[in-house]
Amino acid sequence: MKAMVIHRFGGADELRADTVATPEPAPDEVLIAVAAAGVNPVDWKIREGMLEAMFPHQFPLIPGWDAAGRVASVGPGVQGFAVGDRVFAYCRKSVVQWGTYAEYVAMPAAAVAAMPPSLSFAEAATIPLAGLTSWQALFDDAGLKSGQSVLVLSGAGGTGSLAIPFAKQAGARVYAMASPANHDYVRAHGADDVLDYHLADPIAEVRAREPDGVDVVYANVGGDLHQRSYGALRRGGVLVSIVDPPDEAAAAAAGVKALFRFVEPDGAELAEIARLIEQGIVRPPAITVMPLADAARAQALNQEGHVRGKIVLEVT
Ligand SMILES: NC(=O)c1ccc[n+]([C@@H]2O[C@H](COP(=O)([O-])OP(=O)(O)OC[C@H]3O[C@@H](n4cnc5c(N)ncnc54)[C@H](OP(=O)(O)O)[C@@H]3O)[C@@H](O)[C@H]2O)c1
Repeated sequence: MKAMVIHRFGGADELRADTVATPEPAPDEVLIAVAAAGVNPVDWKIREGMLEAMFPHQFPLIPGWDAAGRVASVGPGVQGFAVGDRVFAYCRKSVVQWGTYAEYVAMPAAAVAAMPPSLSFAEAATIPLAGLTSWQALFDDAGLKSGQSVLVLSGAGGTGSLAIPFAKQAGARVYAMASPANHDYVRAHGADDVLDYHLADPIAEVRAREPDGVDVVYANVGGDLHQRSYGALRRGGVLVSIVDPPDEAAAAAAGVKALFRFVEPDGAELAEIARLIEQGIVRPPAITVMPLADAARAQALNQEGHVRGKIVLEVT
């Protein structure tokens, strides 16, 4: 099969088009003929070797953890999927090697879900990794409920574009941060109030609107804004970070709980997200589609950190 591969850690120019063996599905796996692969920050982080301490890596390595496509074959133990089904999946495996910048990827059926029928493959490929991250952070970790308030630190990217409508449909009041050029976009995805993170003290702006503090902070950026965002929470609130490790001292001083989420593959949660999209309750992020051969350019653009919505690689 054709794939984009790296043979060692390094810059975007390490990505090469190559022909590699097509994976065989294990007994519990679905082989997906990938039509579209979502591009995520973790892809360039893996390329640079930043996850080397977390997972074993093997070269040649195909990056990419998001796939949408059709079922090409199923292992003998798989039920509920048939050849030709339109599916999507967050494709993280125990060893980082066989990613989704390729014509085929094999994943345990438990991680795969039927994609929303009304979406294109490119739209569907924006959902699994960013959607599951935001879902697990907001609901599994923070326990966000109707009537609560949440601050999404980065509203316009992949995780933010999905966190906002997820929180909104749950009945929460949603504050989101973004550059002014993205304020209309973030509002269109359901934010009740949008703040410019370039302001001298954006957290004070949140406190002006919520004097007691918000119930939940979704810290999907790190650095200074993450650090200051403990100050946006009410006592007893929850910060869930997906970038920097939580600051236990800052959490204790603010009287809040701070957690870290690393996203887990979960076909059942993905099916729940698909249902919300199909019902028109959640809309997918904006997409910039590029050919698979432009994977290096796509990763470089993602690495600059200002893509609105998601970049998707068209594989077939
Ligand atoms: N732990 C996990 O399991 C997990 C899962 C997914 C992602 N992540 C991490 O979470 C982070 C976000 O992921 P993503 O997919 O949402 O990234 P992304 O799509 O690349 O985010 C891009 C967006 O970030 C916004 N942004 C840039 N700098 C910002 C700042 N200082 N404050 C607020 N917004 C800012 C930009 O909006 P403007 O143009 O308006 O600035 C842009 O739209 C990445 O570091 C990623 O690696 C972790």
